[in-house]
Amino acid sequence: MDFLLGWRVFPLLTLLASFLFFFYMKTSSKPSNSECSLLPHDRFWILSNNIVTPTGVISGAVEVRGGNIISVVNKENQQWKIKSNVVDYGDAVVMPGLIDVHAHIDEPGRTEWEGFSSGTKAAAAGGVTTLIDMPLNSYPSTVSEETLKLKVDAAEDKIYVDVGFWGGLVPDNAFNRSALEGLLKAGVLGLKSFMCPSGINDFPMTNASHIKEGLNVLAKYKRPLLVHAEVELDSESDSEASDGINDVRSYSTYLKTRPPSWEAAAIRELLAVTKDTRTGGPSEGSHVHIVHLSDTRASLDMIKGAKSSGDSLSVETCPHYLAFSSEEIQDGDTRMKCSPPIRDSANRERLWDALTEGHIDMLSSDHSPTVPELKRFDEGDFLKAWGGISSLQYVLPVTWSYGRKYGITLNQLASWWSERPAKLAGQDLKGSIVSGSHADIVVWEPDTEFELDDNHTAYHKNPSISAYMGKRLSGKVLATFVRGNLVYKEGQHAPVACGVPILAK
Ligand SMILES: *[C@@H]1O[C@H](CO)[C@@H](O)[C@H](O)[C@H]1NC(C)=O
Ligand SMILES: *[C@@H]1O[C@H](CO)[C@@H](O)[C@H](O)[C@H]1NC(C)=O
Ligand SMILES: *[C@@H]1O[C@H](CO)[C@@H](O)[C@H](O)[C@H]1NC(C)=O
Ligand SMILES: [Zn+2]
Repeated sequence: MDFLLGWRVFPLLTLLASFLFFFYMKTSSKPSNSECSLLPHDRFWILSNNIVTPTGVISGAVEVRGGNIISVVNKENQQWKIKSNVVDYGDAVVMPGLIDVHAHIDEPGRTEWEGFSSGTKAAAAGGVTTLIDMPLNSYPSTVSEETLKLKVDAAEDKIYVDVGFWGGLVPDNAFNRSALEGLLKAGVLGLKSFMCPSGINDFPMTNASHIKEGLNVLAKYKRPLLVHAEVELDSESDSEASDGINDVRSYSTYLKTRPPSWEAAAIRELLAVTKDTRTGGPSEGSHVHIVHLSDTRASLDMIKGAKSSGDSLSVETCPHYLAFSSEEIQDGDTRMKCSPPIRDSANRERLWDALTEGHIDMLSSDHSPTVPELKRFDEGDFLKAWGGISSLQYVLPVTWSYGRKYGITLNQLASWWSERPAKLAGQDLKGSIVSGSHADIVVWEPDTEFELDDNHTAYHKNPSISAYMGKRLSGKVLATFVRGNLVYKEGQHAPVACGVPILAK
């Protein structure tokens, strides 16, 4: 009897034990794996005279344990002085890591454009601790539960920072509630749609009816819809350009093909639907986020109006709209092509005003690289070149370098790049240096300048296409921590990529 029982129970116990062992390995190996971090401590103190907290910049220490911030103390508080495992960064700035809610990582399918390994190494080197990957430019696009799984599988063991995913709202799934719910239940943090052709065949554009349906489903999950707000309108310059009257190497030719009226028309159409997000509205709980705003006239006025009427609405712009102006773009320099386009310098000044006055809520990179061939540098043809600017590793120094003359503060940087993006992406434990948050931190020197020349180490898959090559920037990243792991330190990454995929529950 005993023998029989043992015979039945022993293999079961072995099975159970090995299952528990593997489960333990799978869930615990990452945080405890010393190769995840260039700093061999689970508990340590980060000291600095410039720690950016939500209530201001303090001189003191951040205590990290098990990947979380467990206390933030002022210098007067002597508690940390008796501790070991102290990393003293002196006057360098200790700020929440950047959360880039708009990055095209292109894997799987177009990994020669970018990829999880190169993209997240660039992110880590630039102080970006979380990326939210866009559902297009990879192949296939992330428009279903199955295609999300391909993304998550492709990211496994390759990501140096945490990565979340937006799903695509496309005509094919917009009227299919179960398909959208499947995608949301599988963990996308929200949806993204285009009101004009996206440039990617398997990512068609949506109209206002699709968006309305999408918002209705998103309301139940309290997740946002991100919208590329441009609609194609016929314009005279369009036919002129295609008739070859204008020089295709001239930026102004491209600029005329996508006038501000395209953005304004899209936003007008969109705001008819965002009313549904108001308190008591049919899609209360959902939220609309306008990506990469460029036009600061009619578009911005309408956005301000809708916000004050109670629409759940936010808007981002990108560093390239703040750094560059159309007047200065050289003939044939297709590195600068993106949509909506970079407009004139008066528009750029108004973008800075809108940002500093709080009408634009946050910043994102819209890192949208490709292979150099598709930028068509030989011909310099603005109409045929791939539209998309490569920037991920440089967004912090770029924002800082170009923003200094507008008197931007470290707290504004943290708000635009960390706090508000965390909120948009539903990441309550990220985006601020406060007790209880993930220890996602960038340490950087605001006054250290560097040239973005060929000697500068860039981790992007195709560094040469970046719009910032050749610029002198101010703001050098010294160290980047992701959930307490020192993933980047002065030109070196942690041996093992221990970022995790962020899936909404
Ligand atoms: C809706 O989506 C589900 C899940 O992807 C699919 O099985 C079903 O065929 C779709 N329905 C229609 C009408 O397309
Ligand atoms: C949007 O397109 C769908 C077809 O996919 C169509 O049924 C609907 O009427 C269109 N809505 C608008 C507002 O054009
Ligand atoms: C890159 O570094 C090398 C060796 O230090 C130097 O000779 C060269 O001039 C540098 N290139 C640039 C563009 O600064
Ligand atoms: Zn984009």
